[in-house]
Amino acid sequence: MKIESALRDQYRKLAKDQGYRSRSSYKLLELVKKYNVVKINDSILDIGCAPGGWLQVSKKYCGLNGKVVGIDKSPVRPIAGISVIQVDIEDPNVLQIIKQRFPISYDVVLSDLSPNVSGIWHYDHERQISLTLLALDISTKVLKVGGNAIFKIFEGEFSGNVKQEACRIFKKVTTNKPKASRQKSSEFYLVCSSFCGTDNSPRYCKN
Ligand SMILES: C[S@@+](CC[C@H](N)C(=O)[O-])C[C@H]1O[C@@H](n2cnc3c(N)ncnc32)[C@H](O)[C@@H]1O
Repeated sequence: MKIESALRDQYRKLAKDQGYRSRSSYKLLELVKKYNVVKINDSILDIGCAPGGWLQVSKKYCGLNGKVVGIDKSPVRPIAGISVIQVDIEDPNVLQIIKQRFPISYDVVLSDLSPNVSGIWHYDHERQISLTLLALDISTKVLKVGGNAIFKIFEGEFSGNVKQEACRIFKKVTTNKPKASRQKSSEFYLVCSSFCGTDNSPRYCKN
């Protein structure tokens, strides 16, 4: 068996044994342990949350008094203590829908968004970047100043656009590819710390 598929099976088995809904859970676990972006009592918005692995990891880290809200266009089987809004983030009323359901600001925004992959690389890359830019825009409207975020990106021609925009609004932006992410896959994560707010003054963080 090739090393890559052995690793995939290992994370799949681990997820099953430990009760996580996705292998992706281990990507978030790695990032949270390394960068300390989620803390006890935090409020967390997870965009593109189905089937719910990241929701489970978020709840583990923010604890009983933390709040976890997930968004996805697909349904998510209920998880105790976690709220989910089923909405397409391309719906022009998405922000209104989120704020109406939960009129709060968040300490952390997470985005693991992936389009339905067609296999046509340029198209999938552009779709994923377009979704991630929407998630970034939502973040600017729901995050507390000083808040943190993680965004998945499919590496390619337009990935710099997301990084550039993130650098404009967060004090620190780091890129990471967790061990749980398949080496062959083009995905990586932007780990963004300390949201600066949107007072329109252009600023660029050091990386
Ligand atoms: C890789 S999965 C997320 C896995 C999740 N982090 C977990 O650990 O269970 C990506 C998700 O993005 C969602 N998604 C893609 N496009 C979307 C859109 N326009 N609006 C809302 N969710 C979307 C998909 O439905 C899918 O559930």
